Order: sequence, then C-alpha cells, then structure tokens
Amino acid sequence: MHKGCTVWFTGLSGAGKSTISTLLHERLRAAGAKVELLDGDIVRTHLSKGLGFSREDRDENIRRIGFVCELLSRNGVIAIAAAISPYREVRRSVRARIPNFVEVFMECPMDVLIGRDVKGLYKKALSGEIEHFTGISDPYEPPEAPEVTIHSARETPEQSVERVWLTLKSLGLITHD
Ligand code: ADX
Repeated sequence: MHKGCTVWFTGLSGAGKSTISTLLHERLRAAGAKVELLDGDIVRTHLSKGLGFSREDRDENIRRIGFVCELLSRNGVIAIAAAISPYREVRRSVRARIPNFVEVFMECPMDVLIGRDVKGLYKKALSGEIEHFTGISDPYEPPEAPEVTIHSARETPEQSVERVWLTLKSLGLITHD
C-alpha cells in the first residue's frame, strides 16, 4: 500500500508545518499506513532536549531527526518530519541518506507570519526579547528544489494536504486514493 519514505516539512515558525504534517499523519493513519510524525517542538522535549538555537545545535537537531527518519523509512514506515530546518546543507545531507525523500517547503510571507503570531514569538523576536529568531534575526535558507511548495497564506490546510498526498501518489510512494 505504501513505501518507506520521509516527508520533510521545512519553513519558518508559524508557516503551518505542524498543522499540515498533523493532517497528513492523520490521513495516512486512517488509510492504514505505518506512519510516524517527528515534530520539532516535541522532538526538542525528548530526543533533542537541551539543544538551543545556534547553528550547531539546530544542525544537530536536524541530524538526529534525519537519523530517526532514515531508520523508519528503511523499515517501510512513512516518517514525517516538521522542523524549521533553516540550513540547506544539513537538509541536503539528510536527503542524501534517505532513498525516498520528499521535501515540502512551507512558504508564507513574513507580514502574514507576524500577523498570525500564534505563539507570540515574532513580537518577542522583533522587540529583541528573543535573539537569533529564524526569519527575523537568524537566517532561513529556502529549498532550491522542493518536491512540493505550500503557500499557506493562499491555500486552505485541506488543499495543502491534498497536494502533498498527490505528490506522494505521483512518486509511487502511496497507492491509496
Ligand atoms: S530548528 O531550527 O532546529 O529546525 P525547530 O523546528 O526544532 O527548529 O524548533 C523551532 C521552534 O522552537 C519554533 O517553532 C519556536 O516555537 C521555538 N523557538 C524558540 N526559540 C527560537 C528561535 N530563536 N528561532 C526559531 N524558533 C525558536
């Protein structure tokens, strides 16, 4: 019914990674797939507890998530990762280790993110209360050739998850309708 693969969501905080990855996870599970979701916020309370937001720590976080995705993927599971993963080089090295790697770029304009500010972190980043905040005072390197780009300011979550689903189908990774 499906192949082992990794669906890797990258994008700024608040761009919709958790929302879309959770919907995808639920839909795959309902279809009977073996699937696991590794969300940055949750991973940072377990696997990556103690890591901060320097480049080294972020890259270490991404390597750890990538390692788990690799193990799951090669055992036939669909691994879904949702972390900012701001640096192209470490995303590239994770991709290189995983045979079926699907990168989903969550694109959203900064003014929309600041307007949404679900966690109140952009306000704090803009006032300088939080340093090295991705997109404000720390870099984000967008993917150059993602398999899917989601424009979360212009699509509903249902449309977005459908586009990821169709990509997985067209790549032959799932055969569900
Ligand atoms: S990553 O850069 O290592 O991929 P990750 O996705 O795990 O980041 O964690 C990002 C989450 O941590 C954000 O959604 C936000 O809630 C929180 N956070 C706290 N400080 C920062 C910061 N300086 N930059 C970005 N996110 C931060």
